[in-house]
Amino acid sequence: KEVTTIEGLARNGRLHPLQQAFHEAGGFQCGYCTPGMIMSAYGLLHGNRRPTRAQIVQGMERNLCRCGAHQRIMAAIETASGQRGASHD
Ligand code: FES
Repeated sequence: KEVTTIEGLARNGRLHPLQQAFHEAGGFQCGYCTPGMIMSAYGLLHGNRRPTRAQIVQGMERNLCRCGAHQRIMAAIETASGQRGASHD
């Protein structure tokens, strides 16, 4: 089996679109949950390239952010899936 970790997403010094979207959306505070969030989102988008907000919420329900970043995390996943512009409210 091949295992991909958060460190394996960036290529040639460039962040993966999910990493970039999290960065631009401010999808983290302490960063404790961030690797798990991004890797879960990566798996979610691998199986469903354009999930609805409800599918994103369901797909990410096993990951909890104890900080206040949950809405920005959802927005970052929508951005990475091409369903939302890069700027967020
Ligand atoms: Fe702190 Fe998610 S950013 S737990």
